[in-house]
Amino acid sequence: MARDELLDPSAASDEEIAELVSQPAAGTRSDPQAPDPLASLRPARLEDFVGQSELKSRLQVILEAARMRQQAADHFLFAGPPGLGKTSLAGIVAAEMDVELQVTSGPALERPGDLAAILTKLSAGDVLFIDEIHRLSRSVEEVLYPAMEDFQLDIVLGKGPAARSIRLELPRFCLVGATTRTGLVTGPLRDRFGLVARLDYYDPEDLRSIVVRAAGILGAEISSEGAAEIAARSRGTPRIANRLLRRVRDVAEVQGDGSIDTDTARTGLELFGIDSMGLDKVDRSILTAICEGFGGGPVGLSTLAIAVSEPTETVEDVYEPYLIQQGLLQRTPRGRVATPAAWRHLGLVPPPSAFPAGDPSLFEG
Ligand SMILES: Nc1ncnc2c1ncn2[C@@H]1O[C@H](COP(=O)(O)OP(=O)(O)O)[C@@H](O)[C@H]1O
Ligand SMILES: [Mg+2]
Repeated sequence: MARDELLDPSAASDEEIAELVSQPAAGTRSDPQAPDPLASLRPARLEDFVGQSELKSRLQVILEAARMRQQAADHFLFAGPPGLGKTSLAGIVAAEMDVELQVTSGPALERPGDLAAILTKLSAGDVLFIDEIHRLSRSVEEVLYPAMEDFQLDIVLGKGPAARSIRLELPRFCLVGATTRTGLVTGPLRDRFGLVARLDYYDPEDLRSIVVRAAGILGAEISSEGAAEIAARSRGTPRIANRLLRRVRDVAEVQGDGSIDTDTARTGLELFGIDSMGLDKVDRSILTAICEGFGGGPVGLSTLAIAVSEPTETVEDVYEPYLIQQGLLQRTPRGRVATPAAWRHLGLVPPPSAFPAGDPSLFEG
Protein backbone atom coordinates (compact mmCIF):
# COMPACT_ATOMS: atom_id res chain seq x y z
CA MET A 1 0.00 0.00 0.00
CA ALA A 2 1.40 3.38 -0.92
CA ARG A 3 1.71 5.92 1.84
CA ASP A 4 -1.08 8.44 1.66
CA GLU A 5 0.64 11.49 0.16
CA LEU A 6 -1.56 13.86 2.06
CA LEU A 7 -0.42 12.73 5.48
CA ASP A 8 3.05 11.52 4.76
CA PRO A 9 5.16 13.81 6.94
CA SER A 10 8.23 12.86 4.92
CA ALA A 11 6.74 13.70 1.53
CA ALA A 12 7.96 17.19 0.75
CA SER A 13 5.59 19.33 -1.29
CA ASP A 14 6.49 20.35 -4.83
CA GLU A 15 7.04 23.82 -3.51
CA GLU A 16 9.55 22.61 -0.93
CA ILE A 17 11.45 20.59 -3.50
CA ALA A 18 11.54 23.47 -5.98
CA GLU A 19 12.84 25.70 -3.23
CA LEU A 20 15.68 23.39 -2.32
CA VAL A 21 16.72 22.85 -5.88
CA SER A 22 16.89 26.56 -6.58
CA GLN A 23 18.10 27.43 -3.10
CA PRO A 24 18.33 31.21 -3.21
CA ALA A 25 21.49 32.68 -1.74
CA ALA A 26 20.60 33.76 1.73
CA GLY A 27 22.10 37.19 1.28
CA THR A 28 20.06 38.03 -1.79
CA ARG A 29 16.66 38.29 -0.21
CA SER A 30 16.30 42.00 -0.95
CA ASP A 31 17.34 41.39 -4.54
CA PRO A 32 14.31 42.27 -6.72
CA GLN A 33 15.15 39.26 -8.92
CA ALA A 34 14.94 36.87 -6.00
CA PRO A 35 11.76 34.81 -5.61
CA ASP A 36 9.17 36.50 -3.47
CA PRO A 37 9.78 35.20 0.06
CA LEU A 38 6.08 35.47 0.75
CA ALA A 39 5.41 32.82 -1.86
CA SER A 40 6.99 30.29 0.46
CA LEU A 41 5.65 28.74 3.62
CA ARG A 42 9.14 27.86 4.78
CA PRO A 43 10.20 30.18 7.59
CA ALA A 44 13.20 32.23 6.43
CA ARG A 45 14.41 33.72 9.70
CA LEU A 46 14.58 32.49 13.26
CA GLU A 47 11.80 34.90 14.27
CA ASP A 48 9.45 33.29 11.71
CA PHE A 49 10.15 29.82 13.08
CA VAL A 50 7.24 29.02 15.37
CA GLY A 51 7.67 27.00 18.59
CA GLN A 52 10.69 24.92 19.70
CA SER A 53 11.54 27.86 21.96
CA GLU A 54 14.36 26.15 23.85
CA LEU A 55 16.13 25.17 20.64
CA LYS A 56 15.57 28.64 19.19
CA SER A 57 17.12 30.43 22.15
CA ARG A 58 20.17 28.15 22.08
CA LEU A 59 20.57 28.70 18.37
CA GLN A 60 20.15 32.43 18.78
CA VAL A 61 23.01 32.60 21.29
CA ILE A 62 25.36 30.44 19.24
CA LEU A 63 24.70 32.38 16.03
CA GLU A 64 24.97 35.75 17.75
CA ALA A 65 28.31 34.77 19.28
CA ALA A 66 29.62 33.54 15.94
CA ARG A 67 28.52 36.79 14.30
CA MET A 68 30.30 38.82 16.97
CA ARG A 69 33.48 36.84 16.44
CA GLN A 70 32.95 37.06 12.68
CA GLN A 71 33.48 33.33 12.46
CA ALA A 72 31.60 30.46 10.95
CA ALA A 73 28.98 29.07 13.32
CA ASP A 74 29.64 25.76 15.04
CA HIS A 75 28.28 22.57 13.47
CA PHE A 76 24.65 21.65 14.21
CA LEU A 77 22.85 18.34 14.15
CA PHE A 78 19.05 18.43 14.03
CA ALA A 79 17.23 15.21 14.76
CA GLY A 80 13.56 14.34 14.76
CA PRO A 81 10.68 12.92 12.74
CA PRO A 82 10.06 14.23 9.21
CA GLY A 83 8.28 17.53 8.67
CA LEU A 84 9.26 19.24 11.95
CA GLY A 85 11.54 21.89 10.47
CA LYS A 86 15.08 20.47 10.17
CA THR A 87 15.64 21.64 6.60
CA SER A 88 14.05 24.97 7.41
CA LEU A 89 16.50 25.43 10.28
CA ALA A 90 19.46 24.81 7.97
CA GLY A 91 18.21 27.63 5.73
CA ILE A 92 17.64 29.83 8.76
CA VAL A 93 21.20 29.30 10.00
CA ALA A 94 22.51 30.44 6.61
CA ALA A 95 20.14 33.41 6.47
CA GLU A 96 20.96 34.55 10.00
CA MET A 97 24.68 34.30 9.27
CA ASP A 98 24.13 35.95 5.88
CA VAL A 99 26.05 33.25 4.02
CA GLU A 100 25.42 30.78 1.20
CA LEU A 101 23.68 27.46 1.76
CA GLN A 102 24.84 24.31 -0.02
CA VAL A 103 22.45 21.38 0.12
CA THR A 104 23.21 17.69 -0.23
CA SER A 105 22.23 14.44 1.42
CA GLY A 106 23.81 11.31 2.84
CA PRO A 107 22.70 8.97 0.04
CA ALA A 108 23.81 11.49 -2.64
CA LEU A 109 27.42 11.40 -1.42
CA GLU A 110 28.39 7.99 -2.69
CA ARG A 111 32.18 8.30 -2.75
CA PRO A 112 34.65 10.40 -0.75
CA GLY A 113 35.33 12.37 -3.94
CA ASP A 114 31.69 13.54 -4.02
CA LEU A 115 32.09 15.13 -0.62
CA ALA A 116 35.54 16.53 -1.46
CA ALA A 117 34.10 18.24 -4.55
CA ILE A 118 31.50 20.02 -2.45
CA LEU A 119 33.85 20.92 0.39
CA THR A 120 36.44 22.50 -1.87
CA LYS A 121 33.80 24.76 -3.41
CA LEU A 122 32.71 26.26 -0.09
CA SER A 123 33.58 29.82 0.86
CA ALA A 124 34.46 30.89 4.38
CA GLY A 125 31.44 30.78 6.67
CA ASP A 126 29.16 28.91 4.25
CA VAL A 127 26.60 26.46 5.54
CA LEU A 128 26.77 22.92 4.18
CA PHE A 129 23.53 21.06 4.83
CA ILE A 130 23.66 17.26 4.73
CA ASP A 131 20.18 15.78 4.96
CA GLU A 132 19.78 12.16 6.12
CA ILE A 133 23.30 12.29 7.45
CA HIS A 134 22.86 8.88 9.10
CA ARG A 135 22.97 7.40 5.61
CA LEU A 136 26.53 8.53 4.82
CA SER A 137 28.82 5.67 3.92
CA ARG A 138 31.66 4.92 6.30
CA SER A 139 34.34 6.04 3.83
CA VAL A 140 32.63 9.40 3.23
CA GLU A 141 32.14 9.87 6.94
CA GLU A 142 35.86 9.44 7.51
CA VAL A 143 36.59 12.32 5.14
CA LEU A 144 34.11 14.42 7.06
CA TYR A 145 35.80 14.02 10.47
CA PRO A 146 38.99 16.07 9.79
CA ALA A 147 36.96 18.47 7.65
CA MET A 148 34.62 19.24 10.55
CA GLU A 149 37.29 19.31 13.22
CA ASP A 150 40.37 20.83 11.62
CA PHE A 151 38.97 22.11 8.32
CA GLN A 152 41.33 19.84 6.48
CA LEU A 153 40.77 17.49 3.62
CA ASP A 154 42.96 14.47 3.04
CA ILE A 155 42.88 13.30 -0.54
CA VAL A 156 44.56 10.20 -1.92
CA LEU A 157 45.94 10.68 -5.43
CA GLY A 158 46.71 7.69 -7.62
CA LYS A 159 46.43 4.02 -6.80
CA GLY A 160 48.61 1.24 -5.41
CA PRO A 161 52.27 1.86 -4.44
CA ALA A 162 52.35 5.15 -6.35
CA ALA A 163 49.45 6.56 -4.31
CA ARG A 164 50.20 9.60 -2.23
CA SER A 165 48.02 11.59 0.02
CA ILE A 166 47.83 15.35 0.06
CA ARG A 167 46.25 17.60 2.61
CA LEU A 168 44.13 20.60 1.64
CA GLU A 169 43.13 23.46 3.89
CA LEU A 170 39.40 24.16 3.79
CA PRO A 171 37.68 27.42 4.62
CA ARG A 172 35.93 27.38 8.00
CA PHE A 173 32.40 26.29 7.19
CA CYS A 174 29.35 25.35 9.20
CA LEU A 175 27.98 21.86 8.80
CA VAL A 176 24.29 21.34 9.47
CA GLY A 177 23.23 17.71 9.58
CA ALA A 178 19.67 16.40 9.73
CA THR A 179 18.55 12.94 10.66
CA THR A 180 15.31 11.20 11.46
CA ARG A 181 17.21 8.73 13.63
CA THR A 182 19.82 9.97 16.11
CA GLY A 183 20.40 6.38 17.08
CA LEU A 184 21.92 5.70 13.67
CA VAL A 185 24.39 8.58 13.72
CA THR A 186 27.72 7.11 14.80
CA GLY A 187 29.24 8.32 18.07
CA PRO A 188 32.35 9.90 16.49
CA LEU A 189 30.19 11.89 14.06
CA ARG A 190 27.74 13.02 16.71
CA ASP A 191 30.60 14.17 18.95
CA ARG A 192 31.87 16.56 16.30
CA PHE A 193 28.73 18.70 16.37
CA GLY A 194 28.70 21.74 18.63
CA LEU A 195 24.96 21.35 19.18
CA VAL A 196 22.83 18.25 18.86
CA ALA A 197 19.19 19.25 19.03
CA ARG A 198 16.10 17.10 18.97
CA LEU A 199 12.96 18.56 17.49
CA ASP A 200 9.76 17.54 19.22
CA TYR A 201 6.24 17.34 17.91
CA TYR A 202 4.59 20.76 18.12
CA ASP A 203 1.87 21.46 20.61
CA PRO A 204 -1.58 22.45 19.29
CA GLU A 205 -1.12 26.14 20.07
CA ASP A 206 2.15 26.37 18.09
CA LEU A 207 0.58 24.45 15.23
CA ARG A 208 -2.37 26.80 15.27
CA SER A 209 0.04 29.73 14.86
CA ILE A 210 1.74 27.91 12.00
CA VAL A 211 -1.62 27.37 10.28
CA VAL A 212 -2.61 31.02 10.77
CA ARG A 213 0.77 32.17 9.46
CA ALA A 214 0.53 29.89 6.42
CA ALA A 215 -3.06 30.96 5.72
CA GLY A 216 -1.86 34.55 5.74
CA ILE A 217 0.85 33.76 3.23
CA LEU A 218 -1.60 31.85 1.02
CA GLY A 219 -4.12 34.66 1.29
CA ALA A 220 -6.78 32.40 2.81
CA GLU A 221 -9.21 33.71 5.37
CA ILE A 222 -9.38 31.46 8.42
CA SER A 223 -11.05 31.69 11.81
CA SER A 224 -9.08 30.99 14.94
CA GLU A 225 -11.27 27.91 15.61
CA GLY A 226 -10.83 26.67 12.05
CA ALA A 227 -7.07 26.91 12.45
CA ALA A 228 -7.27 25.10 15.80
CA GLU A 229 -9.26 22.29 14.19
CA ILE A 230 -6.61 21.76 11.51
CA ALA A 231 -3.82 22.07 14.08
CA ALA A 232 -5.38 19.44 16.33
CA ARG A 233 -5.36 16.89 13.53
CA SER A 234 -1.88 17.47 12.12
CA ARG A 235 0.02 14.87 14.17
CA GLY A 236 2.08 17.61 15.75
CA THR A 237 3.77 18.17 12.38
CA PRO A 238 3.99 21.57 10.60
CA ARG A 239 4.39 20.00 7.15
CA ILE A 240 1.11 18.09 7.62
CA ALA A 241 -0.60 21.18 9.05
CA ASN A 242 0.32 23.16 5.94
CA ARG A 243 -0.81 20.39 3.64
CA LEU A 244 -4.15 19.93 5.41
CA LEU A 245 -4.63 23.69 5.27
CA ARG A 246 -4.28 23.63 1.48
CA ARG A 247 -6.79 20.80 1.14
CA VAL A 248 -9.27 22.48 3.49
CA ARG A 249 -8.82 25.70 1.53
CA ASP A 250 -9.77 23.78 -1.63
CA VAL A 251 -12.94 22.58 0.06
CA ALA A 252 -13.71 26.10 1.30
CA GLU A 253 -13.30 27.51 -2.20
CA VAL A 254 -15.32 24.80 -3.93
CA GLN A 255 -18.13 24.50 -1.40
CA GLY A 256 -18.26 27.94 0.17
CA ASP A 257 -16.99 31.47 -0.13
CA GLY A 258 -13.37 30.45 0.45
CA SER A 259 -13.17 31.36 4.10
CA ILE A 260 -12.28 28.60 6.54
CA ASP A 261 -14.22 28.10 9.78
CA THR A 262 -14.61 25.08 12.06
CA ASP A 263 -17.24 23.49 9.83
CA THR A 264 -15.29 23.76 6.59
CA ALA A 265 -12.20 22.50 8.40
CA ARG A 266 -14.09 19.45 9.72
CA THR A 267 -15.74 18.72 6.37
CA GLY A 268 -12.41 18.99 4.60
CA LEU A 269 -10.55 16.82 7.08
CA GLU A 270 -13.24 14.16 6.99
CA LEU A 271 -13.19 14.15 3.21
CA PHE A 272 -9.51 13.25 3.38
CA GLY A 273 -9.95 10.50 5.98
CA ILE A 274 -8.34 12.18 8.97
CA ASP A 275 -9.96 11.33 12.27
CA SER A 276 -10.45 13.36 15.43
CA MET A 277 -6.95 12.57 16.69
CA GLY A 278 -5.39 13.29 13.33
CA LEU A 279 -4.78 9.62 12.61
CA ASP A 280 -4.91 8.49 9.01
CA LYS A 281 -5.74 5.14 7.41
CA VAL A 282 -2.36 3.58 8.08
CA ASP A 283 -2.23 4.73 11.72
CA ARG A 284 -5.62 3.19 12.27
CA SER A 285 -4.73 0.00 10.48
CA ILE A 286 -1.66 -0.39 12.70
CA LEU A 287 -3.81 -0.09 15.82
CA THR A 288 -6.51 -2.31 14.34
CA ALA A 289 -3.94 -4.96 13.44
CA ILE A 290 -2.56 -5.04 16.97
CA CYS A 291 -5.97 -5.04 18.67
CA GLU A 292 -7.94 -7.28 16.36
CA GLY A 293 -5.23 -9.35 14.74
CA PHE A 294 -2.95 -9.92 17.71
CA GLY A 295 -5.23 -9.54 20.74
CA GLY A 296 -3.63 -6.22 21.68
CA GLY A 297 -0.04 -7.47 21.43
CA PRO A 298 2.79 -7.79 22.10
CA VAL A 299 3.55 -8.21 18.43
CA GLY A 300 6.97 -7.89 16.80
CA LEU A 301 7.73 -4.92 14.58
CA SER A 302 8.34 -6.94 11.43
CA THR A 303 5.13 -8.95 11.85
CA LEU A 304 3.23 -5.74 12.37
CA ALA A 305 4.80 -4.12 9.31
CA ILE A 306 3.78 -7.08 7.18
CA ALA A 307 0.25 -6.93 8.57
CA VAL A 308 -0.13 -3.32 7.41
CA SER A 309 1.94 -3.73 4.21
CA GLU A 310 4.44 -1.00 5.08
CA PRO A 311 8.24 -1.18 5.29
CA THR A 312 9.45 -1.73 8.86
CA GLU A 313 11.45 1.53 8.83
CA THR A 314 8.36 3.48 7.83
CA VAL A 315 6.34 1.97 10.64
CA GLU A 316 9.17 2.65 13.09
CA ASP A 317 10.19 6.17 11.98
CA VAL A 318 7.00 7.68 10.66
CA TYR A 319 4.01 6.12 12.39
CA GLU A 320 5.08 4.78 15.76
CA PRO A 321 6.62 7.94 17.23
CA TYR A 322 3.32 9.77 17.02
CA LEU A 323 1.22 6.82 18.22
CA ILE A 324 3.58 6.43 21.19
CA GLN A 325 3.53 10.14 21.92
CA GLN A 326 -0.28 10.02 21.93
CA GLY A 327 -0.27 7.15 24.41
CA LEU A 328 -1.85 4.71 21.95
CA LEU A 329 1.08 2.36 21.52
CA GLN A 330 3.92 1.07 23.65
CA ARG A 331 7.23 -0.48 22.70
CA THR A 332 8.05 -3.32 25.05
CA PRO A 333 10.93 -5.79 24.98
CA ARG A 334 8.50 -8.41 23.66
CA GLY A 335 6.94 -6.25 20.97
CA ARG A 336 4.38 -3.57 20.31
CA VAL A 337 1.37 -3.31 22.62
CA ALA A 338 -1.86 -1.36 22.14
CA THR A 339 -2.84 0.71 25.19
CA PRO A 340 -6.41 0.86 26.54
CA ALA A 341 -6.69 4.29 24.89
CA ALA A 342 -6.01 2.68 21.51
CA TRP A 343 -8.83 0.18 21.98
CA ARG A 344 -11.18 2.97 22.96
CA HIS A 345 -10.13 5.15 20.05
CA LEU A 346 -11.11 2.33 17.70
CA GLY A 347 -14.45 2.07 19.50
CA LEU A 348 -13.50 -1.24 21.10
CA VAL A 349 -13.63 -2.31 24.74
CA PRO A 350 -10.12 -2.96 26.05
CA PRO A 351 -9.81 -6.53 27.37
CA PRO A 352 -8.37 -7.05 30.89
CA SER A 353 -5.06 -8.08 29.30
CA ALA A 354 -4.66 -4.56 27.93
CA PHE A 355 -4.09 -3.35 31.48
CA PRO A 356 -0.62 -4.19 32.79
CA ALA A 357 -0.77 -5.72 36.28
CA GLY A 358 -4.42 -6.44 35.48
CA ASP A 359 -5.67 -3.37 37.28
CA PRO A 360 -7.99 -1.36 35.01
CA SER A 361 -8.52 1.27 37.70
CA LEU A 362 -4.96 2.45 37.16
CA PHE A 363 -5.97 3.58 33.72
CA GLU A 364 -9.31 5.16 34.45
CA GLY A 365 -9.90 8.78 33.58
N1 LIG B 1 8.69 25.97 13.23
C1 LIG B 1 8.04 26.15 12.06
N2 LIG B 1 7.31 27.26 11.85
C2 LIG B 1 6.63 27.42 10.70
N3 LIG B 1 6.60 26.52 9.69
C3 LIG B 1 7.30 25.40 9.84
C4 LIG B 1 8.08 25.16 11.01
N4 LIG B 1 8.68 23.97 10.89
C5 LIG B 1 8.32 23.48 9.70
N5 LIG B 1 7.49 24.33 9.06
C6 LIG B 1 6.83 24.09 7.76
O1 LIG B 1 6.87 22.68 7.51
C7 LIG B 1 7.53 22.43 6.28
C8 LIG B 1 8.45 21.24 6.45
O2 LIG B 1 9.57 21.60 7.23
P1 LIG B 1 11.03 21.03 6.91
O3 LIG B 1 12.00 22.01 7.44
O4 LIG B 1 11.15 20.68 5.47
O5 LIG B 1 11.01 19.70 7.80
P2 LIG B 1 12.05 18.50 7.87
O6 LIG B 1 13.28 18.92 7.14
O7 LIG B 1 12.27 18.30 9.34
O8 LIG B 1 11.36 17.30 7.27
C9 LIG B 1 8.26 23.72 5.91
O9 LIG B 1 8.27 23.96 4.54
C10 LIG B 1 7.47 24.79 6.60
O10 LIG B 1 6.45 25.24 5.76
MG1 LIG C 1 13.98 17.96 5.43
